[in-house]
Amino acid sequence: MKTLEWRENCLIILDQTCLPTEIKYREACTYQEVAEAIKKMEVRGAPAIGAAASFGFALGALAFKGNCLDFWDYMETVRAELEETRPTAVNLVWGLRRMQNRMYEMKKEWDIDKIKEALVEEAKAIAVEDVRINRKIGEYGNTLLPDKVNILTHCNAGSLATVDYGTALGIVRSAHDSGKNLHVYAGETRPFLQGARLTVLELMEYGIPVTLITDNMAGFLMQQGKIDMVIVGADRIAANGDTANKIGTYSLAVLAEEHEIPFYVAAPTSSIDLKISSGEEIPVEERDPCEVRTIMGVQIAPETAKVYNPAFDITPAKYIHGIITEKGIIHPPYSVNLVKILVK
Ligand code: MRU
Repeated sequence: MKTLEWRENCLIILDQTCLPTEIKYREACTYQEVAEAIKKMEVRGAPAIGAAASFGFALGALAFKGNCLDFWDYMETVRAELEETRPTAVNLVWGLRRMQNRMYEMKKEWDIDKIKEALVEEAKAIAVEDVRINRKIGEYGNTLLPDKVNILTHCNAGSLATVDYGTALGIVRSAHDSGKNLHVYAGETRPFLQGARLTVLELMEYGIPVTLITDNMAGFLMQQGKIDMVIVGADRIAANGDTANKIGTYSLAVLAEEHEIPFYVAAPTSSIDLKISSGEEIPVEERDPCEVRTIMGVQIAPETAKVYNPAFDITPAKYIHGIITEKGIIHPPYSVNLVKILVK
């Protein structure tokens, strides 16, 4: 299963809404189709949507046929449409900014065909780099893991959330490959069930022992001494270390603190947003109430039940023992150490 693949000027997307029961790929050959796939969460996970949006930007450029003077305004529309698909994961903004910078670097050539070519190459480079970055995160994270360990993770921060390999699950894979004896508890992650549908599927495919739990079981498992460590991904990390990740992450961090269990965040440095000083400023996406009233299309609450559906929450930095990036492990104080790692 490949999250994304660029083939003959088209982005092939694994439709994650169909997993685990069906493996279905969809072709996105226009930037609007990429935007649609991101909105519907056919492709999801911060690094994966960053890469998908970058390919979307390239597709937008490839479709341009008008007068080259109009190209720049048109590309601004493409960028804005892609950027507004999902507001929380900063990797989306990061990817689009990198694509835009590449485009302006080429502006002096006044050759739209060359710019189109360069943008396709830039999106491909973002995708290739993502895999390399995740492997580095895996290596650094593995240094924290003892030989025998029970890890709790939330949502899906695996290869399906990235171009390949994964962040939190990249660490698990790296430890497993180095011969460590590990076992993962995967929280199901209501309402979209990324844990049950995706994390469990991935780990079973890699032959890594995994046990599925519902989200409300985590505290009891910690009390029973079944969890040694919590590792989750991130959608946006503020300058002070406050971290947005899938709804439910904050509860796990508080529970981990109470039970003196180390809580780690694994993320590429592209998830760090120094423009945002604290978690309070991170935009939290609210999604369709239907996601809560139903499970996989089956109604589980009255049709008109009032629903609140924030897709992410913010874990205060004080609960985070370390942030594992491709440049190394960042420890508190985050306000100092996040800046240091970014200039490294
Ligand atoms: O709504 P999703 O499925 O895109 O949310 C995904 C998460 O919250 C992940 O934990 C995060 O993006 C990190 S993925 C490496």
